[in-house]
Amino acid sequence: MEARIQSVKSSAVEECSKIESLAQLQQLWVKYLGKKGEVTQLLRSMGSIPADQRPVVGQMVNQLKVELEQLYEQKEAELEKQIQQKRLQEEALDITLPGRKPKIGSLHPLTLVLNEIKQIFISMGYQAVEGPEIELDYYNFEALNIPKDHPARDMQDTFYITEDFLLRSHTSPVQIHVMERQDPPVRIIVPGKVYRADSDLTHSPMFHQVEGLLVDAGITFADLKGTLEAFAKAMFGPETRIRFRPSYFPFTEPSAEVDVSCIICRGTGCKVCSNTGWLEILGSGMVDPRVLEKVGYDTEKVSGLAFGMGIERVAMLKYGINDIRLFFTNDQRFLHQFK
Ligand code: PHE
Repeated sequence: MEARIQSVKSSAVEECSKIESLAQLQQLWVKYLGKKGEVTQLLRSMGSIPADQRPVVGQMVNQLKVELEQLYEQKEAELEKQIQQKRLQEEALDITLPGRKPKIGSLHPLTLVLNEIKQIFISMGYQAVEGPEIELDYYNFEALNIPKDHPARDMQDTFYITEDFLLRSHTSPVQIHVMERQDPPVRIIVPGKVYRADSDLTHSPMFHQVEGLLVDAGITFADLKGTLEAFAKAMFGPETRIRFRPSYFPFTEPSAEVDVSCIICRGTGCKVCSNTGWLEILGSGMVDPRVLEKVGYDTEKVSGLAFGMGIERVAMLKYGINDIRLFFTNDQRFLHQFK
């Protein structure tokens, strides 16, 4: 009997060590511990054992049962752990893979530059206003002291829609619109699109300007200088200098082109400034009294200053861009550099 118990035990241990699945383990349970299993049969055969040996043998069989049950539980835990580990491996996330970036847009470089220009003048008390892109000849020219046949009309190659209607060639006509509906003081900047029949590396048939107009009592050329100097320093850095060159615009008198010290070489001379140390940045002047009279302002009481600049030109200088078309072809590789 003892030998039988030993052989049941060793064969159970041996079979158990070869088991690879829970289903196999279940079969092992049935074979040894089930209703007709080996251990159960051993227990049943106790009756045929002499009474004096029964307690000892009975204890051995019970011992065997306990050991096999433990063996079963150990194996079961082991298998479950293996299964768990295998699952974890199969379902593993590779957190070292680079993520997928959502595409985020960015403001257009012209918008960035315009925002900066606006912010500077708004901080000086100017208001931003807009006007129509399709204009009457009257606002684009006549009211600005540019009569028909005036040679100044050739300065700007204008797109005409009809005899009277045209695409505005500058933002100056908005000066007239604003002054027609409002008494002085006037303190405005006017950003917007303008159109000229012109196209090369630095000219586009559509481009953007910002106009400035200040009309009030006692405005002098000193105000023009101070205003534009403050703007240039805020826009291009505190060490920036400006210079005024006498010029001509029909709607300002006197008129001046304003240059800033080259923002690349700081005035020593380089390719960008053609070795002059200066960059032309805007047109300006004191509003011609004839323009003020046309809108009914009293030129004995008020005077004005005005200026106009191209936003593309400012942006090209600021960012070192040498082809104006880059602003309008919308290549994302270009646009994404201005975040
Ligand atoms: N309108 C002028 C231009 O487009 C610029 C300018 C504006 C000049 C205001 C003087 C005053 O060239």
